[in-house]
Parts: sequence; structure tokens; C-alpha cells
Amino acid sequence: MLPTSLIFALISVPWTISASVRRAYDTHDYYVLEIDSEPEYYTTQLGLELLEQVGELEGFWLVRAEKNLKREQQDEDPILSRYNAIQPSPVKSLIPQTLRRRIKRAPPSPSELASKMGIQDPLFTEQWHILNPESPEHMMNVTGLWEEGYTGLGVISSLIDDGLDYTSEDLADNFDAIHSHDYNDHEDLPTPKLPEDTHGTRCAGQIAAVKNGVCGLGLAYHSRVAAVRILSGVITDVDEAAALNQGFDEVGIYSCSWGPPDDGRTMEGPDYLIQKAIVNGVNRGRQGRGSIFVFASGNGKGSGDECNYDGYTNSIWSVTVGAADWTGRSPYYSEACAANMVVAYSSGNGKSIVTTDKGKNKCSRSHGGTSAAAPNVVGVIALALQARPELNWRDIQHLCVRTAIPINYDPSSPPPSSASDTDYELTAAGRPFSYAFGYGAIDAYAFVHAALKWDLVPRQTYIRTPTIVLGDGKMTKDKVFSGGIPFGKSKDGGETSVSSTLEVTEKMMGHALLAPQGLEHVNVRVWIEHQRRGDVRVEIVSPNGIKSVLAGVSSGGEGGRKYDKAKTGFPGWLFMSVKHWDENPLGTWTITVSDPVNTDFTGKFLGWNMVLWGSSTDTSVSAQDDKNKYEILMNDEPIFPPPDIYDEDEDEDGHATVTVTATETLIGSTTRSYSKPTVFLSTEKPQATDVLEASSTSTSMFASPTSSLNLGNIFSSQRPIFAIFELIFLIALGVVLYVFLWRRRKQASNADYEALAGQNLAMSRIPGERERSGRPGNGAEMYEAFDGGSDEESDDEGDEARVDQPMLPRSARTPREAPSSATIGQSRYRDEPSKLEVQDQTQEGIGSHPQDDDSGSSGSWERT
Ligand SMILES: *[C@@H]1O[C@H](CO)[C@@H](O)[C@H](O)[C@H]1NC(C)=O
Repeated sequence: MLPTSLIFALISVPWTISASVRRAYDTHDYYVLEIDSEPEYYTTQLGLELLEQVGELEGFWLVRAEKNLKREQQDEDPILSRYNAIQPSPVKSLIPQTLRRRIKRAPPSPSELASKMGIQDPLFTEQWHILNPESPEHMMNVTGLWEEGYTGLGVISSLIDDGLDYTSEDLADNFDAIHSHDYNDHEDLPTPKLPEDTHGTRCAGQIAAVKNGVCGLGLAYHSRVAAVRILSGVITDVDEAAALNQGFDEVGIYSCSWGPPDDGRTMEGPDYLIQKAIVNGVNRGRQGRGSIFVFASGNGKGSGDECNYDGYTNSIWSVTVGAADWTGRSPYYSEACAANMVVAYSSGNGKSIVTTDKGKNKCSRSHGGTSAAAPNVVGVIALALQARPELNWRDIQHLCVRTAIPINYDPSSPPPSSASDTDYELTAAGRPFSYAFGYGAIDAYAFVHAALKWDLVPRQTYIRTPTIVLGDGKMTKDKVFSGGIPFGKSKDGGETSVSSTLEVTEKMMGHALLAPQGLEHVNVRVWIEHQRRGDVRVEIVSPNGIKSVLAGVSSGGEGGRKYDKAKTGFPGWLFMSVKHWDENPLGTWTITVSDPVNTDFTGKFLGWNMVLWGSSTDTSVSAQDDKNKYEILMNDEPIFPPPDIYDEDEDEDGHATVTVTATETLIGSTTRSYSKPTVFLSTEKPQATDVLEASSTSTSMFASPTSSLNLGNIFSSQRPIFAIFELIFLIALGVVLYVFLWRRRKQASNADYEALAGQNLAMSRIPGERERSGRPGNGAEMYEAFDGGSDEESDDEGDEARVDQPMLPRSARTPREAPSSATIGQSRYRDEPSKLEVQDQTQEGIGSHPQDDDSGSSGSWERT
């Protein structure tokens, strides 16, 4: 018995599965006939020939009539007249087909475009970051903008770097001498004098290499570039501060491809003067629109480094840029973190950035690292500022968030539960975000076209939450901790993490006039004592369930940074996340601090607070009216609890409800939660001192009976009295157990610690030795020498020295290029650099940069 559907299918086979008939456009006119049944009958009626069904469209048929010269001369198509004459009929429509040509979406080939646009630059066809025929979805996408006339005209960028070769024929015409300076040699012109001073010139070429017969093109080849030389020797904070504001009335964008060492064990931010300069630039630069600071995220991923341990890249005032390679993958060197905003194309997977080099007519084919990613974003912003000069620094960040393309993102496969830093997770605003890619790769065309339509952001505002003090935590000016709630792993398999919550109330929102969906950056400041800083993991979860891992992203959630064995903890370190952009912050935020790594080291969580930045609902004041309003948020807070834990002006009657919870995973992996005292910082309008007292004592697990806190307030209305005793008993038990285990662990672990230290020392010495032998007298060596002491000692001792002697010369910053094979010679990332190395060697001679002979320098931390 054949089912009717099969019979039907057999009947219709000739119409549906036959290959489409060859068209004869020369001899026939084609139409589409719409009819539910009996197409043959009506086709004949109309004098047409039935050919086939239209694709998968049921009831639509391709028909044709022989071309007829006479018919073409008539005013009206006789076939259509005939169709009209038989109406009404089952024929619903008859649509004549006209010939059309669809244009391939593929970009033009580089040589096609070169001839079309009169580009004579010989290396243009090799600049894959501009035109990437091999994978066209991975390029900066600027050529369409060039054809529309956006080339950066009238915009000035400044390279804060190791100089700029203004005698290069590829840069001379776009060089801006007036806004340039050399702070290493204290001269007007930023001459790259050391043999290795090629970094700034290469970065400048990416932005503004002239359209001429030399090397390639800059992304904004009609824009101008100034340069400030600070990386070629020692400078002080005074000079760094001046450098960051050099020419700030006219200079729009500062390109910063450097930062504290990316060794996975430094945690350092800009000092006070430098922060002042950055905020000054943001407030007053570019005639009030704000200087735009673009920072490379760092090249230390191979060393487990993360950009949230760097106070320049985790600053709300900077656009943080990681790298993606020519195939759209995250290169082994590019640092990830919750403050990472976007990526731009750079070296990796066998290809590097082709750009100008130091010398009259020299080019480089081996530029790379996040060092080369940042200038690519600077070039894009230069194009946008030509289109919309009035965009302020926050408009630029909004456009980054909104227009970046989430490359390597598969919406159909949700991230695994233990998401790695390259996995995307959706934000509350519905955008995919990953720690390695940020919001994705910058696309110049999308960016500038969005800029053209962009409504300028309302003024910025912020909520500063009270500081939550845990376990009577305290920290002195000398960064000596006391109190806090312990966390960590114990030898018997138990693991304790500490979670604490904080409520953002309607009142706080209302007082700050923060727009409900207007959240932008989130700062989280923590005080954590720990015996091995790199093991600490910190994450925060928003009221909408969006999680930002602040410390420990690159290890896939394991712990933080494998080489960071500082014993100085997080003395009020300021983290930042852009993952909550456009979220409504109202409700409960939960921070969790843990040490999932090993049983040898433990720590205590002493306290935290937040600053939530965003757009104001107050549209009457323009963003420019906020000048100097911002206080400086240093990356380290000198004492804890901070004296200004509760700012009356900020939130005159907003009282935060604070709950502290410790979750303990006991042996046998049962999870138990118990509440610690719930603290109301005050239901009355608080005096600053009251709050200080209340929060420093009341949240304590070990609150002394003489505490000024009204215990009744906390407990009596909350739960029966026996619960308190149970609680106190549990806590006491926990403390006894903890102290006992900690003692044992400490005794057992001394030997382990020594071994570990030895390994790390050997590892970290490799680049230093090379520098000492190969590059006498340069800034990088100074830095290594300076930094060498921190191998065994804490980095903070270095900081301490600087605090005591603020004018002590600070060593040169580390320029950010791809680490060389030598740098990470013993790491497991060997494959990639050796490929690069091979590539660099094969390309040698063409770019004629002799220093690349030294394989150690090709794309290394040092300038190449
Ligand atoms: C890249 O630029 C072209 C125009 O040259 C544009 O059509 C395309 O949409 C752009 N790509 C994206 C992702 O915006």
C-alpha cells in the first residue's frame, strides 16, 4: 500500500528535484507564475512554457516565452495584457523577470584596490590587517571608509613610546613636531637614538604611514602623529605625567603600547601624579572632549598575567586593547581580563604586522604583540574623530562596546560551565563578552558608521558604595593586615571561600541619578591578605547573575597567576570590569574570594567596596560640565578601613544592607552555609564615624563584647537567641580547626615552597640574562635590574621605595610586543614563537632591519 504522500511525491518529482533548466536569456523572456494548482493549464492559456518550480517556493513556477521583436516594440507586454484579460482567475500573479547582477561581498583584492585608489606603497598588498583576502572577516575593514573620504584628516594622535623617526619618508609628511617631546634626553624632537628604538616608529606607521611610494599605509593616512619619548631610559613620574598630557589641547588620542612588566607577578598601577595627569587629560584634553588613552592589554598571558593586575589597563579612563591574529584566534601572548574592552588584529599564527620602520626608507614585516593591536585601534578612532570630532572619551568607549564583532563566537553552543577566557558569555545587555576578546574585534567601518549616527552620551555619574568590613579586618599604612575571614583549601579536601553581598538600592541610584540601564564601568576594591597572591581568585556576580572574574581568568578558573608568589596580598587593589555595560545595577552584588589552588597557602578576606560608573539621567548638564569632579582612585588604598568609607554627599540616606556569608565545603563535599551577622550600616542618616565603627566591628565574627555596636539592632529582630549561640559555637569551632590545620600545613609546606621558588626563579631569569648580556645600558635592562629584587621579595617593597622617595627615577616601562621564543623559552608556548622566529628569518633582508638577526629581539618585550 503506497501512502498518498509518496504517490504525490512521485508525481511531483519531475518538477521539484530536476536540476534547474538552463536559462536562455538571449532567446526567451522569463516570468514567475503564482498559482496553487493546475499550473500547466494556465501556462498554456497564457502562451507560456512551464519550466520548473521556483526553488523551494510552493505555488511559484518559472515560465518563459520566446522573445519576439514585435512584442518588444509594443508599449505593453502582450503576455501581461493576456494575464490581465483573464483576471479574475486562479493565477495570483505573473512577475516578469529582469536580469540583475549581484555583487560579491568579498573585498577587492589588494592589488585591485591599489590600482583603483592609486596606492603605490609597495608593501600595501602585504598589509593583511588592512585587506585580508585569505580570511576577509578578519581585518580592520578601513578601505570602504577611505573610499568614502575618511582618512583621519585633521586628527592628531600621539605615540607615547621610544621615539618616532620623523626622517622616515613614510612618516615625515604626517609628523607633528609641535606636540612632540623627548623626556629621556630632554629635547624637543623625539629622535629614536638607541639602535632598538624602533617600536614607536612602527606603531606610528600603523596609524599614519603616508600614502606614497614607501612601505605601506597607515589606517588613517591623512592624520598626523606626534611622539613623546619615554621608553628609552629612566624617567620620573613628573615626566610621565607631563608626557600623558603633552599637547593635550590638540592631540586627540594617546597610543600607549607599554606598561608594568608582563611577568605574571607584578601588580602595579599608575602613581598619584600619573593618575592626576590621566584624569586631567580626560577632563580637559581635546578642548574638553577628553583625551582618549588607548592601552595595550599586555603580552604576559604565557606567564599567566592578566590585565586586571595592571592599573593602566584596568583604568576606566583607558580603552584596553588585546590582540587577535589573522585567523581570528587569540594569540598566546594576549592578556585577558574583565577590563579588556576590545581586540584588534596583530601578530600570531605565522603572520605579523607590516608597517614602517626606523630609517629613511625602511619597513618592518615583524611588528606584533598587543603593542601593534593598540595602534590599530588608535587609527580607527582617528577615522571616527574626523567623522565626529565632538565625540567625547566615553562616546568612544560606548562605540567600542557596541560595534566590536564577537569573533570566534558560536551563539549555538553555550559556554561550558568552566568557561575559558576565550569563551563568550552573554552580558545583561545581551552582548557576547569574553575575557580574551572583550566585546570582540574592532571593525573600522562599523565603528565610524555608528559614530556618524551616535547621540552623545549624557554626563557621567557614579555610585560609591560603603566599604564592607569583614572579620574586623584592618590594614595599617605599612600594609600590615589583621582580622578578616579565612579562606582556602585544607589538606583534608575541604575548601572555604568567602562571599559577601552588597545592595545597590533605589536610593543610591536616585541620589547618583544613575540611569537604570546606564551602567558602564564597575570598580571593585578588595583588601585580601594571602601567603601567595597568585593563588587567589576573585569574582563578582551582579544582581542579574552576570559574573565578572576579576582575578584568575587566564587559568580557566583555577587560581590566579602561577608565578605570582608575593606575600603582600591585595592591599586595597582596585579591579575593573566592563562586562556589566548597560546593565541595571539595582539589587544585590555578591563577591566571592577563594583559593582553589593548593593547601599550602591561605588567606583572609578583610573587606571590599565598589564604584559603579555610568550615564546620568540628568540630561540638562552636558558631559563637559563635570570637570575636575572626579576624585583619583588609586590602585592601592593606604589604609583599611578607608576613612571615607561612607560619603554623605554621595548617598545622604542610602544605607547599604550588608550580609556576609561563608560557604564551607566540608569533607565528603557536602556544602553548608551559615549566615554571619547581618549588618545594617545604619537605618538613620549615618555619621561617617558611626559607620566606620559599625562596619569595622559589627561584621566581625569575633566581635568583642565591648564593641560600640548595638548588637540588639542586629540580632534581636532577626533570629532567636539560640541561633546566635549556635553561630558563635560554629565560628569558634571553625577558628580552632583553621588554626590547627594552618599550623600543620605551614610546617609541612616549607620544603615545597622552597622548591617552587627555585623553579620560578630559573624561569624568570631567562629574559633578564639575555637583556643583561645583549643590551647594555638600555631602559629594559634597568627595569630588569630594578625588578630583579622582587623575585623573592614582594613587588610592593619596590613600591614602598618609590613612595618614600617619589623622585627616585623610575625605570623605563616595558614596551609590549609579542614575547620572543627566548623570553618564554621554557614555557609550553614554544610552538608559536618558533614559528614566528622562522618566519622572521625567512623574511629577513626585505624589510632590512638588521637587529632582527638577534632572534631574541624579534617581537620581544624589548623594543626590536
Ligand atoms: C566592512 O566594510 C564594508 C564596506 O567596505 C561593509 O559593507 C561591511 O559591512 C563592513 N563590515 C562590518 C562587519 O561592518
